[in-house]
Amino acid sequence: MKLDSILVIGAGTMGRGIAQWFAQQGVSVQLLDNNDDIAKEAIQSVQASWKKLEAKGKFQASEIQSFKEKLSASTWEEIRPDTDLVIEAIIEDAKIKTSVFTKLDSICNEDTIFASNTSSIPISSLAKELPEKRRENFLGLHFFNPAPIMKLVEVIKGHWSKSEMITFFEEWFTEKKKEVAICSDSPGFIVNRVARNFYGESLRIVSNYDVAKMQEVDKVLKKCGGFRMGPFELMDLIGIDINYSVTESVWKSFYHEPRFAPHQLQKKMVDSGRLGKKTKGGFYDYE
Ligand code: NAI
Repeated sequence: MKLDSILVIGAGTMGRGIAQWFAQQGVSVQLLDNNDDIAKEAIQSVQASWKKLEAKGKFQASEIQSFKEKLSASTWEEIRPDTDLVIEAIIEDAKIKTSVFTKLDSICNEDTIFASNTSSIPISSLAKELPEKRRENFLGLHFFNPAPIMKLVEVIKGHWSKSEMITFFEEWFTEKKKEVAICSDSPGFIVNRVARNFYGESLRIVSNYDVAKMQEVDKVLKKCGGFRMGPFELMDLIGIDINYSVTESVWKSFYHEPRFAPHQLQKKMVDSGRLGKKTKGGFYDYE
């Protein structure tokens, strides 16, 4: 098994971060979005981030040049069929993800490994429609936001995922200084399952839209709990829509277990289009 080239599907918050990190590891990356403008904008945004890192002295100009050469936007027609790995990072919707994997199956070589960055959808349910060999070459690779910085990667073994592939990724990521957690294919894996209570209880404490209360909860969890970000700050960073769909998906998967239940306030924020930093306003304002 080797990892010289990858294709990232979805150039939003996660896809662009994942693409950036792989390019920094010397891997050739094609980045594809169903909106070509988003893919192009993502490349520019990654390049701007590299420029800042160069100015800060984190990378040499020659290193940045080599990263840039590794990263390109791609259309469906330009996909390299012999790419070693595809990482899907599109909307958290099982049906749409499944249709993307089916389409990719008809384009990519049999040996290409397929991975989903899903936060909560069981990996095996995304693989089940695919041919046998592809199901064996299918796993979850769950990165955290921002992907170039956050060390943890959850490596999820689906029902059919072959063991040598899981070991390969565990070793490869460890060598590249990521922290690996091998997870079984259960809803929310490890982090997103535990985190449902971090967000859910905080929403239940605040109850209605009340900035002062949200600030108080964020402050207590940072100062006393040792968290780097409070729950409301973190939901704004992740995207309240994304966080809401993950909550819904984990809650449904656990047969509507009340401790994982979504909250009205989350739904109201999503319905009003205040999704967090990406819309310049969520629980807090970012003008
Ligand atoms: P996002 O909304 O920022 O980006 C999704 C991108 O996918 C958009 O640019 C959209 O145009 C594109 N897209 C949608 N359907 C497509 C299709 N059929 N083909 C190609 N591109 C398509 O979403 P985000 O936050 O990057 O999340 C992506 C995935 O990563 C989700 O499964 C989410 O649960 C997961 N995730 C998100 C984290 C976060 O902090 N936002 C953290 C870890 C995982």
